[in-house]
Amino acid sequence: MKITIFGSGYVGLVTGTCLADVGHDVVCMDVDAAKIERLKQGEIPIYEPGLESMLLRNVEAGRLSFTTDAREAVAHGVLQFIAVGTPPDEDGSADLKYVLAVAESIGEYMDDYKVIIDKSTVPVGTADRVHARVAEVLKHRGVSVDFDVCSNPEFLKEGAALEDFTRGARIVVGTDSEKVRERMRECYAPYNRNHEKLMFMDVRAAELTKYAANAMLATKISFMNEISNLAERLGADIEEVRRGIGSDPRIGYHFIYPGCGYGGSCFPKDVQALARTASQIGYEAELLTAVESVNKRQKVTLFEKLSRAFDGDLTGKTIAVWGLAFKPNTDDMRDAPSRTLMEALWAAGAKVQAYDPESMRETRRIYGERDDLVLVADRIQAVKGADALVICTEWKEFRTLDAGWLKTQLAFPVVVDGRNLFEPSAMKSAGLMYYAVGRGD
Ligand code: UGA
Repeated sequence: MKITIFGSGYVGLVTGTCLADVGHDVVCMDVDAAKIERLKQGEIPIYEPGLESMLLRNVEAGRLSFTTDAREAVAHGVLQFIAVGTPPDEDGSADLKYVLAVAESIGEYMDDYKVIIDKSTVPVGTADRVHARVAEVLKHRGVSVDFDVCSNPEFLKEGAALEDFTRGARIVVGTDSEKVRERMRECYAPYNRNHEKLMFMDVRAAELTKYAANAMLATKISFMNEISNLAERLGADIEEVRRGIGSDPRIGYHFIYPGCGYGGSCFPKDVQALARTASQIGYEAELLTAVESVNKRQKVTLFEKLSRAFDGDLTGKTIAVWGLAFKPNTDDMRDAPSRTLMEALWAAGAKVQAYDPESMRETRRIYGERDDLVLVADRIQAVKGADALVICTEWKEFRTLDAGWLKTQLAFPVVVDGRNLFEPSAMKSAGLMYYAVGRGD
């Protein structure tokens, strides 16, 4: 099938590459000429395990190409995926200017039937707005061309995006058109062989499904963080509580890990946008607002624990930070708990000595050169000469820690672990003052 993807960011590149890999003929379009030029040279602008080799293989096979030419992009695919960004507006609602700009381009250049697919995470009602915008442009051109708009939200996790795309639990398509159903079946047939994953539903239900899924997952995390704060004060170990409740299949073990708060480009933005949608229609989404505020508070706990360990005075201290990305296997720093921590440390007059396996470049890009930020080449150098250690991301390599050795490296034996990587008893018997999440101090 001939497929066009608008937007060569994270979602667009993963979608385009995976669809090309199963034999579709894919053109990716982006207005950012420098990005398209780099992609043409085989340079991938994002870090995602496995993406580079899959992308290069499909470019080589002639199934995947890149362009900045909207006319060419619209002419190419019968399926036109919109996978451009929807950044939060000043009030937290999703800004649709890029989505609607693509709708205009499609209306401008189309001259045969197209299925326009909203892949970006967009508020309920966006498919109708895209439809209206395309119809307006066609009317202005004075032509009549048939088209449909459907919703096909993505459920990719950064770091596991290829796996999620090819072996995801479900493929949601919101449409009321049989023509669209047929074409979407054909598009996703290679992923739909062993059991039926395609779920057809109403457009608005599909749009809301995306937000509901992320809001539910964020709620689980904030709930666990809330309980962990209680556990800490009540002298209970949250890790035991987690196992205790997770064993109930109605609750399950997934996404109930307490930590230093959720980050990334999806949960914070989507919870906020859904709450905003609610208030725009006169409904106060109290639970969503609480999920967000619990998360904001949780991000501050790393600093609070550390500050308490130093009696509120961190001036002149050097703090080692292990892990800067919002989660392992990505270089993404958007809304990462490490940022809340570092910014609080700087404000308190401390210096940060940090290491992350992937996001050092991203950290430098965000914060630039500054005296109170030293980025080092590995986890060992990060603790050399440091006063204390804080763990923000659960990269695998941090799990193998020689507590006795660490004790000899730190000027004060203080470890704040935002991801509960170690047994408190082992850390304490090595002479460390170990502060985890919800495990008593
Ligand atoms: C999330 C969803 O998991 C995807 O299904 C969705 O498609 C995606 O958003 C999106 O909307 O595009 P992602 O943001 O890549 O994916 O990351 P997750 O693996 O879900 O982690 C999100 C955050 O929650 C991380 O900061 C992680 O540390 C935190 N988390 C996760 C916890 O604190 N505890 C947990 O038990 C699980």
